[in-house]
Amino acid sequence: MRIAVIGSGYVGLVAAACFAELGHHVICADNDEKKLAALRRGEIPIHEELLPELLERHRNKNLTFTNSVPDAVRASLAIFIAVGTPPGEDGEADLSFVESVSREIAGAIDEYKVIIEKSTVPVYTNEWIKHVMSLNGLSHGEFDVASNPEFLREGTAVTDFLFPDRIVVGADTVRSVDVLREVYRPMTDGSYYSRPNAIPQPDAAKVPPQMIVTSTKSAELIKHASNAFLAMKISFINAVANVCESVGADVEQVKEGMGADSRIGSRFLNPGIGYGGSCFPKDLQAFRLVARDFGCEFRLLDEVMAINEEQRQRFLRKVRRALWTLSGKRVAVLGLAFKGGTDDVRESPAVAIVQSLLQGGCSVIAYDPAAMDRARHLFPNQAITFENSAYDAIAGADAMLVLTEWEEFGALDLDRIKSGLKYPIIVDGRNMFDPEIMRQKDFIYYSIGRPDVVPDKKTRVAAAAQKTRT
Ligand code: UDX
Repeated sequence: MRIAVIGSGYVGLVAAACFAELGHHVICADNDEKKLAALRRGEIPIHEELLPELLERHRNKNLTFTNSVPDAVRASLAIFIAVGTPPGEDGEADLSFVESVSREIAGAIDEYKVIIEKSTVPVYTNEWIKHVMSLNGLSHGEFDVASNPEFLREGTAVTDFLFPDRIVVGADTVRSVDVLREVYRPMTDGSYYSRPNAIPQPDAAKVPPQMIVTSTKSAELIKHASNAFLAMKISFINAVANVCESVGADVEQVKEGMGADSRIGSRFLNPGIGYGGSCFPKDLQAFRLVARDFGCEFRLLDEVMAINEEQRQRFLRKVRRALWTLSGKRVAVLGLAFKGGTDDVRESPAVAIVQSLLQGGCSVIAYDPAAMDRARHLFPNQAITFENSAYDAIAGADAMLVLTEWEEFGALDLDRIKSGLKYPIIVDGRNMFDPEIMRQKDFIYYSIGRPDVVPDKKTRVAAAAQKTRT
């Protein structure tokens, strides 16, 4: 199959590399010349596991890059649109990139093509794309528009793509469904998974994946509804965590009990400082607004967003409780990315919390295993410095805050942390540590939805005296 992918952002680049991995001929088009040159040299603009390997395998062979949308379109049967759909001023998805790319595609079509939305778009976008095609003189029969939403998560994007729970194909004609079946055939017939050099199967993956064929509008809705549901799960457990704090229960135990019910499931029930990233915040807003445009008030989503915002404020109140006043305090921050395993800081709750700390007069010493380069420019001329390890960041700090769920934070040597900190205070926004161990090690430890660990005064005085002596 000859495939064009328009847009080499997260979704576009991963999709292009994975289609090439499936054995297709892929042309990836983008208007950013610098990015294209870097990709042709094998340099990858994002931190994403397995993507370098795939690019190395297929770059300049069955995966090529171009700045010409018309060239990519003419060379291909399936045209995937994977350009950005950022939030506009009022929160609605800004579809101007989708529109301009659609116009370019329309101008280049010389024989039957299937145009497939891969970017997350509001329901009815396919109708607009069809409209643009007609306005540009194309008639039915020369093209079809389909929707094939992508459910990949940053950090595990390649395995999410190649080992999905499901492949959703929204298409209104048999001809376009057949093209998409062909694109995914190496996955649905299992042949990809039996190749000796296939990307290794993650433990929980079921192969071959099922393909769900729906109408185009249903597929568009599946994407928004899935993201909104996952965000709702996170806000739900965060609200439960708050109740746990009020009544003295432990949200991790509640989560275990809830998650064991197979109707609920334990995934996406991790309490914390709220969800961030380039998808959930923008998709919830966009879904809320598109529903309203069609006369449906989806008020539940307002509450999901409000709980998410409140979660950051609650965390900041915890920091104040731990430190009393913020002004003049030296605070070590572990984690800036919106989640572990990525260098992405877009809509990161960690960044928002650091901004509030700086406004409150703290000086911040930050460490993140991957996101520091991206985060640096977000804090121009502010009282923040960056260190190359967690141990360097905590040296002499009044407290350590954990803001991103990087696995390496859970494996830190707590004795070393304790001797490096000025005071043994940890405020953990991701429940990375076991409160019992923190109690044994005489930390003052605040986490989410679990009782605070505050050693009694006698132990603390003895520990402080010990520290002064050493
Ligand atoms: C999400 C969807 O998971 C994916 O299907 C879609 O295609 C794009 O949006 P992503 O934004 O990469 O993927 O991150 P995800 O792993 O879903 O996490 C989103 C946010 O929720 C992060 O800030 C994360 O820290 C937070 N989160 C996630 C929690 O707070 N608790 C959880 O249990 C899970």
